Amino acid sequence: MTKRDFLSVLDFSREETEELFDLAVRMKTAGYAEKPLAGKTLGMVFAKSSTRTRVSFEVGAYQLGGHALFLSSRDIQLGRGEPIKDTARVLSRYLDGIMIRTFDHTDVEELASYSAIPVINGLTDLLHPCQLLADMLTIREHRGNVSGQKIAWVGDGNNMAHSWLNAAALFGFELMLACPEGYDPDPEILENSRGLAKIEMVRDPREAVASADVVCTDVWASMGQEEEARARMKAFEKHKISEELMQTAANGAIFLHCLPAHRGEEVDDAVIEGPQSRVFDQAENRLHAQKALMATLMG
Ligand code: CP
Ligand code: NVA
Repeated sequence: MTKRDFLSVLDFSREETEELFDLAVRMKTAGYAEKPLAGKTLGMVFAKSSTRTRVSFEVGAYQLGGHALFLSSRDIQLGRGEPIKDTARVLSRYLDGIMIRTFDHTDVEELASYSAIPVINGLTDLLHPCQLLADMLTIREHRGNVSGQKIAWVGDGNNMAHSWLNAAALFGFELMLACPEGYDPDPEILENSRGLAKIEMVRDPREAVASADVVCTDVWASMGQEEEARARMKAFEKHKISEELMQTAANGAIFLHCLPAHRGEEVDDAVIEGPQSRVFDQAENRLHAQKALMATLMG
């Protein structure tokens, strides 16, 4: 059987993603006791910081009977310039799967193309597909079917926005993005999704949030953009999610944020702590969704 990777939300069909959600729900709620990862090891290569991704993959692998190995790229030879293609082939001789979080998306594609084992994208500058699995699972739990939702994305046209665009292409939900000028998503990803879902780009967050079922945002400066933080603060100042803005969303609307959040910047404390926030269910769902993903790819 050929190995499969999960580098983008679009690597799975809609049907496969629905099946993955069903399995995740079974793992979360139905006393799932199988150990599809027994005797197996996931290597987790990190070139950037992480709380949720690292802990949820490690705990998830353990709960499925397997083991996870934390590999900081600063400590392995990759960080000293060992080629990705050599790292891929060496790791393939020891491990049963690789999760990688790094900067350049093409590095992950290269790793996957030289690996004999499944590669999972744990975030690149371009995409964050594992987060979208958890986000859609959270929407399913709190709002029912994903495809009928109107989603508002307020903020940067970044890796999260790109993965939302991919998810819209897969599920056909309505996605309205309010990004400040100069911070639009990648035009190719945007165009691809436009053909498959109702995608709208606006500048004013009020327009995107008005009557949205789900309101999402993310930090203004992602990992690796620390030097741009000051300029971004200025550019994004009208893109904060406040309580007043949340009140304009649809009845029963929920607020999502992949976390970590910067309270007082992209979102007010009162929103994260407020009744519409589902951010901690969302964080928990990283565990369930990724367990289903590991069982599917490595089990
Ligand atoms: N949301 C997310 O990926 O969190 P971490 O950076 O903590 O892994
Ligand atoms: N856009 C953020 C997401 C963090 C989970 C980043 O890349 O830093």
